[in-house]
Amino acid sequence: MDDKLVINGGKPLSGEIHVSGSKNSAVAVLAAALLCEGVCVVENLPTIEDVVVLKSMMEALGAKVELDGSTARIDASDINRYHAPIELVRKMRASNYLIGALLGRLGRAQVGIPGGCDIGTRPMDLHEKGLRALGASMALVRGEYVCNAKNLIGAEIYLDHASVGATINIMLAACKAQGRTVIVNAAREPHVVDVANFLGSMGANIKGAGTDTIRIRGVAHLHGSRYSILPDMIETGTWMAIAAATKGDITIRDCVPFHMESVSAKLEEMGMYVEEGEDYLRVKGTGRPRPVSITTMVYPGFPTDLQQPFAVLLSVASGHSVINETIYESRYKYIDELRRMGAEVRVMDRIAMIDGVEALWGTEVSATDLRAGAALVVAGLMADGTTSISNVKYIDRGYEHITEKLVSLGADVRRIREG
Ligand code: EPU
Repeated sequence: MDDKLVINGGKPLSGEIHVSGSKNSAVAVLAAALLCEGVCVVENLPTIEDVVVLKSMMEALGAKVELDGSTARIDASDINRYHAPIELVRKMRASNYLIGALLGRLGRAQVGIPGGCDIGTRPMDLHEKGLRALGASMALVRGEYVCNAKNLIGAEIYLDHASVGATINIMLAACKAQGRTVIVNAAREPHVVDVANFLGSMGANIKGAGTDTIRIRGVAHLHGSRYSILPDMIETGTWMAIAAATKGDITIRDCVPFHMESVSAKLEEMGMYVEEGEDYLRVKGTGRPRPVSITTMVYPGFPTDLQQPFAVLLSVASGHSVINETIYESRYKYIDELRRMGAEVRVMDRIAMIDGVEALWGTEVSATDLRAGAALVVAGLMADGTTSISNVKYIDRGYEHITEKLVSLGADVRRIREG
């Protein structure tokens, strides 16, 4: 049984909103806490489904995890199991972080091929290349990675693509390896820096996170620490899109405007008003967006995770826009749903060509993945009439209290249990 979101669109959303902690940091930081032989307290966690699933996986490995609102207390002193439950592993891509963390902690890991949003092939070759370079053996046996490392030894690893997951996984294992590891062409996303800072707070020696070369000197032990997760840049960008889409006026508090520069620049190109403060952004929708081109790129380029909400915004632009999705080959599944709402979009491989229409209309649509779900929320908020979005479980994976937050900004939205 899944819930539906029912939105009566066409209302400008305005007011203040607080951004939750970053999903993509949270799932990596929690896994990283398995490396610690003491107690870690992690604050500002988003209360989302992925955090709950990861907590269950960590408990199955022998960690004690207490979750109290946005704070987790993790005691991984006695972890003794290395086989992650396959049915939970399949639920999220971030399960792959258990491989690096368990190799670093126990020298063994058995973790299934991770699941996650269906947005294209999501290979693990760069994770494998990096962990093997550190001396781990990795065999794929009946859909699970069986990994062993008597000793992890530092190495120089070049990533053919600046993969977020591979960079983090290698960092997790390398901070307990003997000697020095260098990751060349590392991902520079803010959540990579957040994980490095968390590891540093436990005593790891990591330099260069946030640049394309990360240097790690392994240490024998990591100690307990208290750490607060970074604000979520994708949630921030989603509120920015919502403000522009509804011709509203939203002040987004507790965010990091510096992380949002590519997004702010695009909104300004569309003719929207964007005001940047130290820890807030204010976005005002000024009318129909001007058409623009967007190419998704690794950070600090325009994030692939915001491609969908921004495509919705461009579906009512005053002309022809083009999106080039360079990170995932099939992140356009939501376009069929958007067409039901009146959008005129043609997709050829990784290119989406959008002819702006005057307005979208509400109808019944279904979320196909997390960010596609967010995009349909943006569409429902700006559409004429009522939009009913099913498969809300995808949205719950990444957006905390989405209904309550929308209502606080004046949206006419309610959540109903199907059936
Ligand atoms: N790739 C490879 N080989 C690998 C790993 C990745 O070819 O071994 C390719 C992928 O196929 C993809 C590209 O590299 O084309 C990017 O993958 P990356 O490893 O950077 O992504 P990820 O770690 O699997 C994280 C986020 C995603 C986000 C991407 C890109 C988490 C848990 N997930 O995924 O977030 O889209 O980075 O920024 O951090 C989301 O939040 O909705 C989401 C999907």
